[in-house]
Amino acid sequence: MAKVKKAFFCKECGNEAPKWFGQCPACGAWGSCTEEVISRGSESAAGRRTQSEARPQRVAEIEDADHQRILLSSAEMNRVLGGGLVKGSMVLLGGEPGIGKSTLSLQVALATEGIKTLYVSGEESASQIKMRALRLGVANEECYIYPETVLENIIGQVEASKPDLVVIDSIQTIYSEAIESSAGSVSQIRECAARLLKMAKESGTSVIIIGHITKDGTIAGPKILEHIVDVVISFEGDNNNVYRILRGIKNRFGATFEIGVFEMREDGLGEVENPSEILLGHQHEPLSGVGVGAAVDGIRPYLIEVQALVSNAAYGTPQRSATGFDNRRLNMLLAVLEKRVGMKMFQKDVFLNFAGGFKVQDTGLDLAVVGAVISSYFDRAIGEGVCMAGEIGLSGEVRPAPRTEQRIAEAARHGFGKVIVSGYLAGRGLKVPDGVEVVYINTIGELAAAMF
Ligand code: TYD
Ligand code: MG
Repeated sequence: MAKVKKAFFCKECGNEAPKWFGQCPACGAWGSCTEEVISRGSESAAGRRTQSEARPQRVAEIEDADHQRILLSSAEMNRVLGGGLVKGSMVLLGGEPGIGKSTLSLQVALATEGIKTLYVSGEESASQIKMRALRLGVANEECYIYPETVLENIIGQVEASKPDLVVIDSIQTIYSEAIESSAGSVSQIRECAARLLKMAKESGTSVIIIGHITKDGTIAGPKILEHIVDVVISFEGDNNNVYRILRGIKNRFGATFEIGVFEMREDGLGEVENPSEILLGHQHEPLSGVGVGAAVDGIRPYLIEVQALVSNAAYGTPQRSATGFDNRRLNMLLAVLEKRVGMKMFQKDVFLNFAGGFKVQDTGLDLAVVGAVISSYFDRAIGEGVCMAGEIGLSGEVRPAPRTEQRIAEAARHGFGKVIVSGYLAGRGLKVPDGVEVVYINTIGELAAAMF
């Protein structure tokens, strides 16, 4: 009989410990300890030393494998994956429930021609998936729906039917019979992912694993999954808004930080090729508190509207709230405004919002954020056709944003006549399209004069 053993795991980072802990010794999370029954007697091959053909080789001896890629039907998804789905790779698609992960995967499986897909669903019945497929209105003959939750059966099915792509919807619902804890536990997720990875590498089948994300933004329990898989992409957006962003978080085969933009429609996800169009407001009169920033995610530049509302604080402690922007960074920028420009931010509530419910991470948008705040503070609209791109440092200096030239080109493409950037770039031979005036500033003290 297999020897049964218990162990304690951290739900945040997957750290394993022999006894209970209040705070995880590995990642510092509190109250994340969970006890799981694991059967050491039949532990995965991943944890044991096995006979292997591998031997050390010189770099020069290694054959350079040109990764073969499957070009998916979605150009946006291909971009985020770094130019298509690499054969034999394992991709983790994370996102909050209801954001559209199943829709995206099913749509890609159904609309990509010439591939055979095994869509494993542990969450929905075959008839539910059929209903969704009807809504999507695309039908690849070679897409097989397989409602199954036992890992061993899934692997057996893959070996028998040899698909090009396997979608696991979701990793939290499948379990291996070799482990006694329940589906969705740390040890199950770790075991299932490791076995699926081995299967992907051996058979050359690409695997897309869907993983639900918990409220605090970590992929449920298993941050460990991020280390195991080749590519991590996350599907974001807010449920009240139709726009969704697919963001590259890790990619062993291409650039990270690429984004793809989608629109959730009645008939599935539509691609948004030109995000600037949806992220720029279309009102004609300039309003106070509205600024436009030129952002870059990955290699794609886009323009985005920032709205700020600065009002007198009604209570003792001023409120600061940012949607789509890091709250701590907003506080930092406000502190810089207070200290370097002398604006009395400590008496003000500040609310910040990015168009389309977009979450931005680009520090090149600092200047636009501060521009919108200054504009609202003085209740004065920013001049028409003004766009900003620059990072702000603690002493109020304006630093160059990466790929500023591309940002300027994007602004020009959308008819912006004036772009405010870091003075560091002056005289460095920036390529500036005709009809665009570039204004160089060194500190945020110069921003007001440049933008009004
Ligand atoms: P779903 O793919 O089930 O989300 P997830 O797998 O991430 O939990 O997406 C569900 C939402 O998408 C649901 O609220 C309905 C909406 N939706 C559409 O708006 N249009 C469609 O064509 C489809 C299939 C879903
Ligand atoms: Mg789903």
